[in-house]
Amino acid sequence: MTGGAGFIGSHYVRRLLGPKGPGDVSITVLDLLTYAGNPANLDEVRDHPGFSFVHGDICDAELVGKLMVEHDQVVHFAAESHVDRSIDGGAEFVRTNVVGTHTLVEAAHCAGDRTLVHVSTDEVYGSIDTGSWPETHPLAPNSPYSAAKASSDLLALSYHRTHGLDVRVTRCSNNYGHHHFPEKLIPLFVTNLLDGKKVPLYGDGGNVRDWLHIDDHVQGIELVRTKGRAGEVYNIGGGTELSNKELTGLLLEACGADWETSVEYVEDRKGHDRRYSVDCTKIREELGYAPRKDFREGLAETVQWYRDNRAWWEPVDKGTASRRVV
Ligand code: NAD
Ligand code: DAU
Repeated sequence: MTGGAGFIGSHYVRRLLGPKGPGDVSITVLDLLTYAGNPANLDEVRDHPGFSFVHGDICDAELVGKLMVEHDQVVHFAAESHVDRSIDGGAEFVRTNVVGTHTLVEAAHCAGDRTLVHVSTDEVYGSIDTGSWPETHPLAPNSPYSAAKASSDLLALSYHRTHGLDVRVTRCSNNYGHHHFPEKLIPLFVTNLLDGKKVPLYGDGGNVRDWLHIDDHVQGIELVRTKGRAGEVYNIGGGTELSNKELTGLLLEACGADWETSVEYVEDRKGHDRRYSVDCTKIREELGYAPRKDFREGLAETVQWYRDNRAWWEPVDKGTASRRVV
C-alpha cells in the first residue's frame, strides 16, 4: 500500500488488519511521510504481525522495484492531494502523482503478474452542472492536481492495454471522516469552529460536492480489489450532494456556532470546479456496492472525533493561505 499514513490509506490499513478485515492479508505501507502523512495514523496496527512500514518515496525506482518483487498486489493511495496547494505550485504534484505512478506500474510490469488498484478521483472528469459522469466520460481536469491525477490514471490504464498488467482504477467523490488533514473543507471548518475561529467560504458558497464516508470508500476499494476486473474503471460515490453553503450550515450546527460570527466569504479558488457527480451504476450492478453510512450520523461522529482528538490536530500546521475577504 502506498500512502498508507495519509487520511484514506491509513483507514484502509486499519480496516483490513482490524476485526472486520479479511484476516488473510499482510500489508507493507510505503509512505514518504510528507506533511500529510502522520505515523500516528498507524498506531492501531503497528504491532499487528501482518503489518510493516517502509519510509520511502514512490518515485524511488530501486526501492519500489525491490518491494514489488516481495508483494503480489498494490493499492496505490500516495499522492499530493490538495487542490489549493496545486494552484500555488504544481511541481510536486507532477512528481508524485505522475512520475510516482509511472514508477509503480513500470515496477509491477517488470515483476510480472501483479494487481494494482489505482485510487483516483472524480475530479479527473472536470465539472458538471447537471447529471452525472459514467466511467466512459472523457477526462477534462481543470486544476494542476486533477490534471496530474488524470495523467496517472491514463498511465496506469496504458500499462493494462499495452502490457496486460492487471490495473483497476477507482474514481471517488469527496471523502470525509476522522484523521482527515485539516486543510480540506470539513476538517478545516470543524477545527476552526472548535477553536472559536471563522471559516473561509470560497466564492458564493454554491459549489457542490458529493460526500462519501471513508468506510464506504474502503468498502468500494475492497470490492474492486477482490472482485473487480482488470483494465476497468469504477466510480465510487457517497450519494449526499451538498453545496458548500449547505454543508457549512450543518457544520455550524454540529459545532454550536452561528453564521454571522463564524462565516467569512473569501475570494474564490482559481478555476473552481462548480460541481462533481459520479454515476455509480457500474460498481453497484457489477460488484454490489452501496454507500451505507448516513451522512448526518457520519458527520456527527466526525465532529465528535475532532472534539476528542485535539492532540492529533492541534500541533498541525493547516497551511491555509490567507484569502481576501469579500
Ligand atoms: P493524503 O494527502 O491524506 O495522504 C497522502 C499520503 O501519501 C500521505 O501519507 C503522504 O505522506 C503520502 N505520500 C505523498 N507523496 C508520497 C511519495 N512521493 N511517496 C510515498 N508516499 C507519499 O491523501 P488522501 O486524502 O488520503 O487521498 C488518498 C488518495 O485518494 C489520493 O490518491 C487522492 O488523490 C485520492 N482521493 C482522495 C479524495 C479525498 O476526498 N480525500 C477523494 C478522491 C480521491
Ligand atoms: O472530489 C474528490 C476530491 O475531493 C479529491 O480528489 C481531493 O483530493 C480532495 O481534496 C477533494 O477536493 P476538493 O477541492 O473538492 O476538496 P476541498 O475540501 O479542498 O474543498 C471542498 C469544497 O469546499 C470546494 O468547493 C472548495 C471549498 N472550500 C474549501 C476550503 C479548503 C472552501 O469554501 N473553503 C475552504 O477553506
